[in-house]
Amino acid sequence: MKVIHVSAECYPAAKVGGLADVVGALPKYQTNLDYESAVIMPYYNNKYAKDAKYTSDFECEVALAENNYKAIVYKVKNSFDDLGFHLYQIKIENLLDRENVYGYQDDTERFIAFQKVVLDWILQFAKAPEIIHCHDHHTGLIPFMLTQCTKYKSMRGIPTIFTIHNAEYQGEFSFEKLSYLPEYDLEFSGILEWDYAINPMAAAIKACWRYTTVSPNYMNELPYSSTGLDWLFDTEREKSVGILNGIDTDVWNASTDTMIAKNYSAKTVEAGKKANKLVLCEKFGLDPNKPLVAFIGRLVYQKGADIMAGIFDRALDANDINGLVLGSGDPHAEFLLNELKEKYPNRYNTFIGYDEELSHLIYAGADFLIMPSRFEPCGLNQLYALRYGTIPVVRTTGGLKDTVKDIGEKGGFGIRHEHVTVDDVALAITRANKLYNDTDEFKRIRKEIMKIDNSWENSAKEYIELYNLISK
Ligand code: ADP
Ligand code: GLC
Repeated sequence: MKVIHVSAECYPAAKVGGLADVVGALPKYQTNLDYESAVIMPYYNNKYAKDAKYTSDFECEVALAENNYKAIVYKVKNSFDDLGFHLYQIKIENLLDRENVYGYQDDTERFIAFQKVVLDWILQFAKAPEIIHCHDHHTGLIPFMLTQCTKYKSMRGIPTIFTIHNAEYQGEFSFEKLSYLPEYDLEFSGILEWDYAINPMAAAIKACWRYTTVSPNYMNELPYSSTGLDWLFDTEREKSVGILNGIDTDVWNASTDTMIAKNYSAKTVEAGKKANKLVLCEKFGLDPNKPLVAFIGRLVYQKGADIMAGIFDRALDANDINGLVLGSGDPHAEFLLNELKEKYPNRYNTFIGYDEELSHLIYAGADFLIMPSRFEPCGLNQLYALRYGTIPVVRTTGGLKDTVKDIGEKGGFGIRHEHVTVDDVALAITRANKLYNDTDEFKRIRKEIMKIDNSWENSAKEYIELYNLISK
């Protein structure tokens, strides 16, 4: 194998957000370009693991201070044929093999153990991969361990790429847990350190060969992003490359999607969206004759969750539209969004939870999708929306700025706003409503956006070029 991707999430084995979509698609597109790739991730006790067939590839023990855990690396049978890449999952009994991906008090221990087993597994290969590609902070200690830990000395020449999907989450923990790491020369502890703690995101930036961000604009924003690592991003800038995420057009394809009510293409977009909207509106008690403005996502500060109910309240008050939210997260945001249902019966609804199938139906049935993000490293929702003929209404930030052009500009096809305030977003929704009522222009745009090529093909090539550059 040429590249091994290391990640906490990978669709369809485990998904919390866009990280899973990226790691579940990029390797497939790399394989299609004759660049053999694989993914190694944790084994979680979830539905995928219950249904999957495994063969065991490697067994070892992993120590965290005085505790020893049994670890098994499984290979998912037929993954190469089914997914387009080899998929490996590490089961660490009584530590990593829980139902959820994150959210446990011992997440630090879980992901340190995971990273150690990844390297132990690679160490036993006769022929190691040419590149190790790490994704986000859960894998951020790998570049450090590879370059500094005595145990992995023989693998020091393997280049590492670290991709930042979200610099807000850095996985920092106290130096009290230093003994969890394999032995290294303590003189080099500075590589691990940021703000008196061990910071896996910072350590990865310092120790990797190159780091990438999931959009070019996010790379430019990071030195001013107030993540606490601004200075580091500024000084290490030479090592960074911004590569825009793509989408898996096999999974996200309105003409073949089995999760939506009626398949359609750009040619049949009017009838197709109408049929999906009808089913969606029926399901949620909404009026199919009014424009439907939706939100899908984690209800967190990043996504504007704290003002989401305020946004819909103002927008529904000012416009004759429907609103629909699919998401979960902050309990207060969930409460306010549920409360809004009573104020706007037959015009607004909330679905609290995670539902992959419903998300597809919303991309297909909605007219507009809002993303009032405070920051957005790339954002995939706007790309899925475009592909399903749903016009994105986004804040001008991160990857949203790279992928959505405002209708006020030449060749524009979406709606953008500058600020994350109730007023600004509601005003953007009012512009959306105006566009909806300009029927010919609205129809023209939604046909056009379905044809925009945001597939992984180009970006997968860019990653391979980067691998080739550093492995020479
Ligand atoms: P992030 O990774 O920051 O959450 P992205 O836009 O990159 O944001 O990707 C989010 C992914 O998660 C998309 O595939 C989106 O459809 C999906 N998603 C988010 N929330 C939900 C939900 N509640 N139900 C189903 N899918 C969801
Ligand atoms: C992160 C970001 C999101 C990005 C995704 C996949 O979760 O928040 O913007 O699209 O990773 O790279």
